[in-house]
Amino acid sequence: MREAIAKTDSRRRFLRLLAASPLVALSGLSLAPLDKMAPSGNEKPVGALDALDRLAQGVDLISTPEQALNVMEFEAIARKKLPPAHFGYLATGVDDDATLRANHEGFTKYQIRVRRLRDVRNIDTSVRIFGAAWDNPIALAPVGSQKAFHPEGEIAVAKAARAKGHLQILSTMTSSSVEAVNEAMGAPVWYQLYPTNDWNVARGLTKRAEAAGCPVLVLTVDLQGGTNRETMLKSRRVDSRECVVCHVGGLNYNPTIRRRPMFQGLDLSRVVTQYPLDMNWEVIKRLRDITTMKLVIKGIVTREDAQLAVERGADGVIVSNHGGRGEESNRSTIECLPEVVEGVAGKIPVLIDGGFRRGTDIFKALALGAKAVCIGRPYVWGLAAFGQSGVEAALGILRRELQLIMRQAGTTSLEQITREYLVDRRR
Ligand SMILES: Cc1cc2nc3c(=O)[nH]c(=O)nc-3n(C[C@H](O)[C@H](O)[C@H](O)COP(=O)(O)O)c2cc1C
Repeated sequence: MREAIAKTDSRRRFLRLLAASPLVALSGLSLAPLDKMAPSGNEKPVGALDALDRLAQGVDLISTPEQALNVMEFEAIARKKLPPAHFGYLATGVDDDATLRANHEGFTKYQIRVRRLRDVRNIDTSVRIFGAAWDNPIALAPVGSQKAFHPEGEIAVAKAARAKGHLQILSTMTSSSVEAVNEAMGAPVWYQLYPTNDWNVARGLTKRAEAAGCPVLVLTVDLQGGTNRETMLKSRRVDSRECVVCHVGGLNYNPTIRRRPMFQGLDLSRVVTQYPLDMNWEVIKRLRDITTMKLVIKGIVTREDAQLAVERGADGVIVSNHGGRGEESNRSTIECLPEVVEGVAGKIPVLIDGGFRRGTDIFKALALGAKAVCIGRPYVWGLAAFGQSGVEAALGILRRELQLIMRQAGTTSLEQITREYLVDRRR
């Protein structure tokens, strides 16, 4: 106990010292009032120690994308640069953000069994999905409204994806048209669909993506029940500006989408929501009737739904809980992955997203049977921090980290990364 108090006291002295330091002023961190943050006794001075941790990691100190040691370093820059409500939109989970945290913590439930004494000079991270070849299995998840994070938005992201050979999935809520993004990408992206409650609008969006050459339609199914994004709502309390890039006429769906490029030319008079509450598995057939694009269902987290997706004719699934932004299930996607892989029984590819921040996270998903891993926030942090070069740097870090763990584990191609390389600590 005495040791704990002595430790707290010395931390408090250090915090006082630190608060007076120009380093803190430069970093933009608030360490005051110290007495509240670092009380004597046994209370844990969480805020201040978090701040110290962040300083220790140098997270607020990088000024070029090349200086970043990991993708999290871009988050601190994004937080600083973005208006509070835009950062809140990016960062938010739902309810108490527990599922958001679970996505990260889930990776700790699996350990990597590395093998030794193998020739690991040549590492091949290439992958084929629906007949198309990609240099690596790291894809860019659909994220709406990217001009809220950087003036070049989805175009900068497409240029980065093109430069580094990544698959990009474009959101229905994109702030740039699919045609412009495809041009920047130099090839058609996958298109993510929110069907809305008016099937004519779903048809219009789908037909437009198909006409633009998109080979794959990704139907997102994890927001149908609605969401309670409290962190986002709290961030709006400190930032009441109305940003017309993101929304007009308050936050109602219809006035907002009227300005979005993908909705131009469509009759939106009946649209009130992204999803009809009565959407069911019939939607796959309905989409099949209007498009020949491959159809991937995003948001599957159970064996049963994985089986249904196969039975109903989906071409692929993405294990996703919308980055902890849908329901507060407390389940990480990495823990959902094994049952989804079992459910599809090798018949269609399984992709995954949610909380991937390290090459080792990606390795674990590949070992559990994922064909590719999508990332959301990390590339948007890079975008907000430094535009295209930030996205390229964030992707570069993840590619480098994946190659590193592949070497360390003695696996030279993605096919070699199997279940044998993991220990499931939950058993
Ligand atoms: C700001 C933001 C906007 C998003 N917009 C969409 C979207 O328009 N369509 C969609 O299917 N998913 C959307 N997602 C979910 C992502 O596609 C992805 O599932 C999630 O970000 C993965 O988790 P991660 O951010 O921890 O990597 C969004 C996520 C964020 C953070």
